[in-house]
Amino acid sequence: MTSANPFGAIFLFLRFLQKDWGPWSPWGRIMQKQRHMDEAIYDLIRDRRTHFDSDRVDILNLLLSTRDENGEGLSDTELRDELVTLLFAGYETTATALAWALYWIHQCPDVRQKLLAELDGLGENPDPMEIFRLPYLAAVAQESLRIGSPAMLTFPRVVERPVELGGQTLEPGTVVLGCVYLTHQRQDLYPEPHLFKPKRFLERQFSPYEFIPFGGGSRRCIGLALANYEMKLVLATILSRWELEIAEQDPVVPQRRGVLLAPKGGIALWHVLSIKPHGIPCTPDVGHGNFGLILKLAF
Ligand code: HEM
Repeated sequence: MTSANPFGAIFLFLRFLQKDWGPWSPWGRIMQKQRHMDEAIYDLIRDRRTHFDSDRVDILNLLLSTRDENGEGLSDTELRDELVTLLFAGYETTATALAWALYWIHQCPDVRQKLLAELDGLGENPDPMEIFRLPYLAAVAQESLRIGSPAMLTFPRVVERPVELGGQTLEPGTVVLGCVYLTHQRQDLYPEPHLFKPKRFLERQFSPYEFIPFGGGSRRCIGLALANYEMKLVLATILSRWELEIAEQDPVVPQRRGVLLAPKGGIALWHVLSIKPHGIPCTPDVGHGNFGLILKLAF
């Protein structure tokens, strides 16, 4: 579904092309994959309902345990919708953002050094919230979301009443999309926008109209807090445990993948050295290998 092929993505936007003429037609293939995915998810839901384990802590158990004011739980269809949302809206976006962040951190040794110094200051076994509150780590995460803009567009809005926007009158029925990427490339807001400069986020507070990696308004991304938290903990864990280097020296260019903007071909990083763990217990230990390709992100 998230193909880099523009002809693949066209089917998502043009309804008249969405004709299921069997598994040999493009839309038919997409529908077939969707049916397979639904079957796997419904099997999982059925299995979990039949063998419900109240001690298990994961998102499906939480969803299975929720009750509304009448004591009703979620239906299988509602559970399926929630899981698919998490899978598609929550997984690839954050993975792509992390791939950009790791790329830029390893492109800019001074940034990596500053991050390591900040992480060092935490000592052994830091609380995840202490990591979350680190100012330089926050600035690096923000600058990665700015320069990479993994979600390059907001979702569409439809104008209901005539409205003035940027000197244009938009009539009812007009479809408007915010361009996250172009906003983040504005020279007046972000001088030298092609450079990775986390300190701009320490020097200035950007408004919700200037920094929009998660969109804006009442339909802003619901996963914002989770994504920020996840990004910071993953970056802190990886950087404090392993010394990595970018494996390929060719410049990495952005490529549209579905509705995301990802590094073309992914980011390959070499594992150079295992650093003494800082006690950030988020990932399994991979041992003390020599050179080896350990990460290939945003596949
Ligand atoms: C770095 C990671 C992420 C980025 C860059 C991102 C970006 C976005 C953007 C730009 C939108 C459109 C907002 C708008 O139109 O104003 C959006 C919507 C949404 N995102 Fe995210 N997102 C990320 C992570 C997540 C996660 C982790 C979840 C769920 C756990 C999630 C769930 C959603 C949902 C459900 C919507 C639709 C909200 C609505 O229509 O009301 N996202 N996201």
